[in-house]
Amino acid sequence: MRVNKPPLALYIHFPWCEKKCPYCDFNSHVLDVGGSAKLDSELETLYVDQLLFDLDRDIEDFHLEAQISSVFMGGGTPSLVSPAGIARLLEGVDRRLPIASEAECTLEANPGSSDQIKFQGYRAAGVNRLSLGIQSFSDKKLQALGRLHSGAEAKDAIASARRAGFDNINLDLIHGLPNQNTDDALTDLACANSFNPEHLSWYQLTIEPNTVFFNRTPKLPSEPEIEDISAQGRTWLYDHGYEQYEVSAFSRGENHRSLHNLTYWHFGDYIGLGAGAHGKLTEHHPDFVITRTRKSRVPNDYLKAAKRIATPVEPAELKLEFLMNALRLNQGFLLSQFTERTGLASSALTDFLDAGLAQGLLIRDDQNVRPTPRGLELLDSLLLLV
Ligand SMILES: C[S@@+](CC[C@H](N)C(=O)[O-])C[C@H]1O[C@@H](n2cnc3c(N)ncnc32)[C@H](O)[C@@H]1O
Ligand code: SF4
Repeated sequence: MRVNKPPLALYIHFPWCEKKCPYCDFNSHVLDVGGSAKLDSELETLYVDQLLFDLDRDIEDFHLEAQISSVFMGGGTPSLVSPAGIARLLEGVDRRLPIASEAECTLEANPGSSDQIKFQGYRAAGVNRLSLGIQSFSDKKLQALGRLHSGAEAKDAIASARRAGFDNINLDLIHGLPNQNTDDALTDLACANSFNPEHLSWYQLTIEPNTVFFNRTPKLPSEPEIEDISAQGRTWLYDHGYEQYEVSAFSRGENHRSLHNLTYWHFGDYIGLGAGAHGKLTEHHPDFVITRTRKSRVPNDYLKAAKRIATPVEPAELKLEFLMNALRLNQGFLLSQFTERTGLASSALTDFLDAGLAQGLLIRDDQNVRPTPRGLELLDSLLLLV
């Protein structure tokens, strides 16, 4: 069977934060350099060197030669890194694997650790999309989340990003916050909308194991209250020109969808560099093999050796892995893409499609399969049919 090469995205993880938020289970570690929470230039230099070394090894071991279709620098707090560090990193990547001229290049920034000069520097370094971790504009809610920034600083950060020339901005907001009601959540959306962001990621707060909130959970809205916040919030966003294209992702029109995240949801390939970063890479010859990669999780271990654990995805897991990603999208997926990305014939989906259609959770035509609104809401049940 002939299969096309999927796009190749690049994820780069920066594992440090000034403070650990009580709800966060990402690979983020409190920075402590001689008692200071600032990333000093020595550590920054070592980390960027190690990221490029890590990339060299992935290129060699997986025979990578494609252009990079998107870059996402996430964390942790990438905005602790200086613009000069980001510029050296992106130049180093581009020398090894060319970054496509039209590539989306995103950097996640925390409101407290960024200013206009820094944002201008990131733009000059090649970053063309900023993702700001706003979470809420309410001081009370930000305190309840243990955040270091205030509502005023959140607004300042967005205005600074615009003044620095960014015309593609994502704002991360969380709903279902302690003691939040529907009005509070809609007030956050209205405040975000007043800055006209091109993209909004509107997450529901999840309580994850191994977090402070897991052991000491604050009083959260009840299930019906959260359903009301979600339903009214979605309607509000739709009425104000945002298109929901994924469970938590809303964009102003098709052109502002996150190309990088779409690569994950379309089961495309991505290199994962940095402490604890995950990657997914497909080799086409001599056999079709998909490998998941994970790098040393603890920053100091990564700095010492940047070890990689590589695990081939078993053919039996491919169907579920593909569907877990693709069915998060309102538009679902093309049957031809299922074959291209998994190496499996579309007939492998027949039983699943029959069951999903019979239960009203899927819609399909000759080429495309997508979840119904009910299917999207009941995604976990839908995936049990696989
Ligand atoms: C890992 S953070 C990195 C960005 C940045 N450090 C920040 O927090 O502003 C990416 C986003 O994930 C979301 N997030 C993290 N933990 C979450 C949780 N438990 N529930 C819902 N959203 C969460 C937040 O919106 C956050 O902006
Ligand atoms: S700033 Fe972001 S990455 Fe860091 S601990 Fe808080 S939520 Fe996690």
